[in-house]
Amino acid sequence: MDKPFSQACVNNQAIICEILERVFSDKYNALEIGSGTGQHGVFFANKMPHLSWQMSDQEHNHTGIKRWVSDHPSPNLLAPIALNVLDDYWPTAHYDAIYSANTAHIMPWDAVVAMFSGAGERLSSGGVFCLYGPMKYLGVLDAQSNIEFDYRLQQQSSHQGIREFHDINSLAIAAGMILREDNSMPANNRLIVWQKS
Ligand SMILES: C[S@@+](CC[C@H](N)C(=O)[O-])C[C@H]1O[C@@H](n2cnc3c(N)ncnc32)[C@H](O)[C@@H]1O
Repeated sequence: MDKPFSQACVNNQAIICEILERVFSDKYNALEIGSGTGQHGVFFANKMPHLSWQMSDQEHNHTGIKRWVSDHPSPNLLAPIALNVLDDYWPTAHYDAIYSANTAHIMPWDAVVAMFSGAGERLSSGGVFCLYGPMKYLGVLDAQSNIEFDYRLQQQSSHQGIREFHDINSLAIAAGMILREDNSMPANNRLIVWQKS
């Protein structure tokens, strides 16, 4: 049966993984928020066998994610769990690594707030949260491709749009995290790393 497919995941997974392999090198238990197709989870679990990788997303994405897991099983790759960050039903487990890609500009702002506060609660002390995607700095999008992407997002839905770094970092601080890295990535994306204090 056909699986959902994202070309963007194929393009960005290796370069994202280089950073995750470094910042998650001493971590064991990862939660991915908004796994989408499941391609990132499959790729990262295979590359980081020391890490138990828990994919999650809203239930309507689970069929596709399960097809990826079934075609690319890995002992450390867990079946997806239902997680809408706005719900109260977050997993009760604690994680020392949390990863989310291309979610902050898709979710409404109250969901972004909930994602950070939930991540802060579920991260153990010293745990790391990595967020991948485009970002705005001091109100400016410096790449034309991101200006056009931001416009398309807002046309698609008024609650979507590329977020301001300062606002996102404030959520992380409020959730008890400290900024560790802000990595420049291909295609005008960022991979931001916070650590729970
Ligand atoms: C653009 S997709 C990114 C998927 C994948 N991480 C990637 O990089 O290809 C955005 C994801 O955010 C998820 N999402 C949106 N709102 C959410 C919410 N309230 N709680 C959890 N996930 C949410 C969607 O279901 C979707 O999988």
